[in-house]
Amino acid sequence: MTLRIIHERAHLREALDAHRLDGRTIGVVPTMGALHEGHLSLVRAAKREADVVVVTIFVNPTQFGPNEDFEKYPRALAQDAALVAAQGADLVFSPAVEEMYPKGEQTRVRVTELSLGLCGAHRPGHFEGVLTVVAKFFSLIGAGVYFFGEKDYQQLRVIERMARDLLFPVRIVGCPIVRQEDGLALSSRNVYLSQHERQVALGLSAGLFGARSAYALGERHVGELVRVAQRIINEHARDGIALQVEYLEIRDADDLAEAIADATGLITPRERKVVLLVAARLGSTRLIDNILLE
Ligand code: PAJ
Repeated sequence: MTLRIIHERAHLREALDAHRLDGRTIGVVPTMGALHEGHLSLVRAAKREADVVVVTIFVNPTQFGPNEDFEKYPRALAQDAALVAAQGADLVFSPAVEEMYPKGEQTRVRVTELSLGLCGAHRPGHFEGVLTVVAKFFSLIGAGVYFFGEKDYQQLRVIERMARDLLFPVRIVGCPIVRQEDGLALSSRNVYLSQHERQVALGLSAGLFGARSAYALGERHVGELVRVAQRIINEHARDGIALQVEYLEIRDADDLAEAIADATGLITPRERKVVLLVAARLGSTRLIDNILLE
C-alpha cells in the first residue's frame, strides 16, 4: 500500500472506518515531525504489531510555553512522509491547528500528581498541552495500539495514566530510547546544537551511563549515583559552554515516586526498578534523557 497524507479529520475517519470494516488493526505513532531514527523505531514497532500504521505529525501549540520554540520548531512534512513511507506506514495525519483546536475551544486534560515534578515543574502547562492533544488523537483515531518513546519518560507515564483514567480503548506501548553511536539520545531539537555544543551535550548520556555502571557495581546510594552523573556532566563543559542541569533525579520507574530510599539514602528494596532522569539547558536548547537502573 502507498502512503496517504491526510489533513482533515473527516478524511482520516473515513480511511480508518474502511480499514476496520476489513478487520484490520490500527497502530498509531503520534509525533511532532522532524522525524529521526527514534521516531522511525516507533513506526517499525507499530508495523510489527498492527495491520495499518498511522503516523500523526502535528506541532502542538498548547504544549509549548510562551518563551519556548514553537515558532522555530523544525517542520519538514515532505521529508517526514518519505521517511515513514520507507518504513511501511500507511497514513500520515498532518492537521492544521484549527482542525485539532476548534474555534472557541477551552478544554484541557490534566493528570495531577504524576505531572507535578521533573519536566512538569520546569515547563508549566506542558503536560496539559500534551495530554489534551493526545486525548484528541485517542478520541479521533479510536481503538488501537499507540506507541510512545521512553525518551520522554514522564510523558509516557502521564499518558498511560490518562488513558487508564479516562477509559480510552487504547493499548500503550513504550519503546526504548534510540541513541547515536556516541550515546546522544536522538531528538528533533539536536539540530539546534552547534558542533561544539553537541560535544558538551554528550555529558548527559555519559553521565547516565556512568551512574548505570556504578549501579551495576553495586552502588545503591541515591546521592552517590546522582553525584557520579553530575561529575561526568560537569567534566564535559568546554570553553565556557556548560550544561545547566534543571533536574537530575532518581525516581521509581513505574510511578515516578520520589521516596525510593531508606533513611541512609540507599535504594530500597535493593532490586527496586528505578530510573535516573535528567533535563538540562545548553544555551537556549533544552535537552532531556534518562536511563533505567535495574
Ligand atoms: P516528539 O518529540 O516528536 O516525539 C514523538 C515520539 O517519539 C514520542 O513518543 C517520543 O518519546 C519518541 N521519541 C523521540 N525521540 C526518541 C528517541 N531518541 N528514541 C525513542 N523514541 C523517541 O513527544 C512528542 O513528540 C509530543 O509530545 C507528542 C506525544 C506527539 C504530543 O504532541
